[in-house]
Amino acid sequence: MSVEIPERLLDSLANAGWVAVLTGAGVSAESGVPTFRGADGIWSMFRVEELASMDAFLRNPELVWQWYAHRKTIIARVRPNAGHEALVRMERVVPHVSIITQNIDNLHRRAGSAVVHELHGNIERNYCVKCGAPYGNEDVLSQPGVPHCHHCGGMVRPDVVWFGEMLPEEEWASAVRAAESADVFFSIGTSGVVYPAASLPLLARRRGAFLVEINPEPTALTDRVDLFLQGPSGEILPALVDALTSIKACRE
Ligand code: OAD
Repeated sequence: MSVEIPERLLDSLANAGWVAVLTGAGVSAESGVPTFRGADGIWSMFRVEELASMDAFLRNPELVWQWYAHRKTIIARVRPNAGHEALVRMERVVPHVSIITQNIDNLHRRAGSAVVHELHGNIERNYCVKCGAPYGNEDVLSQPGVPHCHHCGGMVRPDVVWFGEMLPEEEWASAVRAAESADVFFSIGTSGVVYPAASLPLLARRRGAFLVEINPEPTALTDRVDLFLQGPSGEILPALVDALTSIKACRE
């Protein structure tokens, strides 16, 4: 696929002091992590209320842990893709890049992004529901069935945000600050239906950011962005960062 990056985006990026990037499951699709919605999405095969809520966990912790142990194993095996890597390279040519992610797969950090705000938690972390003690994956996966806390015996859960739960306060505050301060804001690989994350692109635009969406399919946001780049992020982002790097080099 040959990717044309419009001049007006390259101009905005070349002059930008702060770029914020909201990512969703689509950014990890090319690494082999399934997305949530759509025909092959996770939520077409499983019912969200049976797996991703505190009620579900209390009702059937074995089932919830079976599912998370499976996802942890898949995610431990995958690698960041060209899209994650391009976002790391963007840091060399833009003074401040903030990644705001809904993904729990840790792939932005593993790729090397310096500033990552995780709105929905991180599947590599876990904690005790009773005393809050933190646990790594090795520890919980070595326990058969539902893992329990070594200190108080409480059940250990994955450190991910479930339906009906608040977002981590500091991560959310940092994400809002980045959206309000960004000169250019990207919404990449997200269907934009889960709030409050989905409110960030339009907040950024109201505060003056040039709003860009990257997705193979149009979404609920598409009609309201300044620029829609249609295609997979693993192809568009490397082309975009290459073009930006050349322009910056010419202008220096
Ligand atoms: P979705 O599964 O809702 O949306 C994934 C988006 O990625 C879709 O718009 C796809 O078109 C797009 N996509 C697919 N392949 C892509 C590619 N190669 N490059 C770019 N985009 C691609 O996932 P999210 O929007 O991330 O929440 O879902 C948001 C939240 O809903 C998740 O964080 C999770 C879920 O329930 C919690 O678990 C709290």
